[in-house]
Amino acid sequence: MPSPALPWTLEIPCWILDIFKDIWLLDQSIPRMKILMVCLGNICRSPLAEGIMKQKIREAAFDWEVDSAGTGHWHAGQQPDRRSIVTAGQHGIDLTDQRARQFQATVFDRFDKIFVLDTQILRDVLRLAQTDQHRAKVELILDHTDPGKNRNVPDPYYDDTGFEEVFQMLDHACEAFVSKERQYNP
Ligand code: 4NP
Repeated sequence: MPSPALPWTLEIPCWILDIFKDIWLLDQSIPRMKILMVCLGNICRSPLAEGIMKQKIREAAFDWEVDSAGTGHWHAGQQPDRRSIVTAGQHGIDLTDQRARQFQATVFDRFDKIFVLDTQILRDVLRLAQTDQHRAKVELILDHTDPGKNRNVPDPYYDDTGFEEVFQMLDHACEAFVSKERQYNP
């Protein structure tokens, strides 16, 4: 004899369980750390920082998200500076998909870490932070190679010869950060 259909009031909990299961599965695929690199124009330094960090996390097989922005609006929508593209390309990193955008205070909730490239950017970003939780996300990127020294990544915009040095500084800082994380997540 066929069993009687469950009353709809008993079927609802299964629906709800399925929805919770879907949400939980989605949660598992959310990248574990979201990092934003911030400089002034978002065409020279932070695109390099984004590309380098993406390469490091790919090598480490970390499921992270990396993005970049600039505190200024002048270059919004543009590709990275040609000199950054060339320098990154010499190290096997492609920046051509990146497009500049201006830093907005709304991103404090979206990212776990906000790495700033110099102390002026640090001041400008902190001025936009509303809470201690937001402020705690902001760090000078070179604090990972020279803690407490307030070192700046020099702006190479007006100096054609500065891009490789900037690349090397960022490469060391990103490597130091990823190695520390690798120790915590072996
Ligand atoms: P970035 O360099 O902050 O490393 O992207 C600059 C790019 C553009 C300008 C300044 C710095 N600018 O004045 O247009």
